[in-house]
Amino acid sequence: MISCKSPAELQRMRAANALVAEVLGELRGVVGEGVTTRELDVLAEDRVRAAGAIPAFKGYHNYPATLCTSVNEEVVHGIPSGRRLRDGDIVSIDLGVVLNDYYGDAAVTLPVGTISEPAEMLLHVTEQALARSIAQVRLGGHVSDLGHAVQRHVEAHGYSVVREFVGHGIGTSLHEEPQVPNYGEPGQGPRLVEGMVLAIEPMVSMGKPAVKVLRDGWTAVTRDGSLAAHFEHSVAVTADGPFVLSRPPQEAGSAGDGAAAMTWAPLDGA
Ligand code: MF3
Ligand code: CO
Repeated sequence: MISCKSPAELQRMRAANALVAEVLGELRGVVGEGVTTRELDVLAEDRVRAAGAIPAFKGYHNYPATLCTSVNEEVVHGIPSGRRLRDGDIVSIDLGVVLNDYYGDAAVTLPVGTISEPAEMLLHVTEQALARSIAQVRLGGHVSDLGHAVQRHVEAHGYSVVREFVGHGIGTSLHEEPQVPNYGEPGQGPRLVEGMVLAIEPMVSMGKPAVKVLRDGWTAVTRDGSLAAHFEHSVAVTADGPFVLSRPPQEAGSAGDGAAAMTWAPLDGA
């Protein structure tokens, strides 16, 4: 069953996701050469708990940390460690929280120092693919329209969509129905209806799509060792279009952070 959230529930989901956005924004300023992924994790956990929320990933199937930090060929679910970020790395930072019983979930991939032009392009195209997918969120559309938009954009740039992991419904659980693959034909399966909330999270490989999980049981890496990027937003379906719950508050538009800011203009090129 796909649950639909009331406006009051969406406000609570906005609060959870705004916290996620705020912490990711702070981490963006901290990421740099020499910083360890564990330092990022400690900072994130402090901020989440100080806000009265609980890290959502920690303890989920025994996952040991607040963040997933996935560097270079790591696609998702990298475990924070003493590894120091180096100039030229890219790092995906994924954060989930529970606040007032509702989940927030979002991810960004950030450059460390100066990165190569191909790496810049990978980040740009993956974020754009997420924007194009969000632009498909409208009443009467289909969940499969979202993945189709990702796949089209990613493959048009010669990259591959990772298929082993998918986006998901989100609400009072981290993972709810439906699954949101990042590929497929449009117009299939469940329809988008008012109050549905979806975590859309394209994972893109610069080379081949195949991934494997390392012996830590979590870290997913590209089999061919190519760079991978990952961006995620939690998005509500409203009569006015997509309400990007995990959008940073300061970007919510001139109308402020209320209902009038529910519509979201996608990034350039969408
Ligand atoms: N954003 C990812 C997801 O929604 C992160 C999950 S990490 C886990 O699936 F540890 F919680 F599994
Ligand atoms: Co997610």
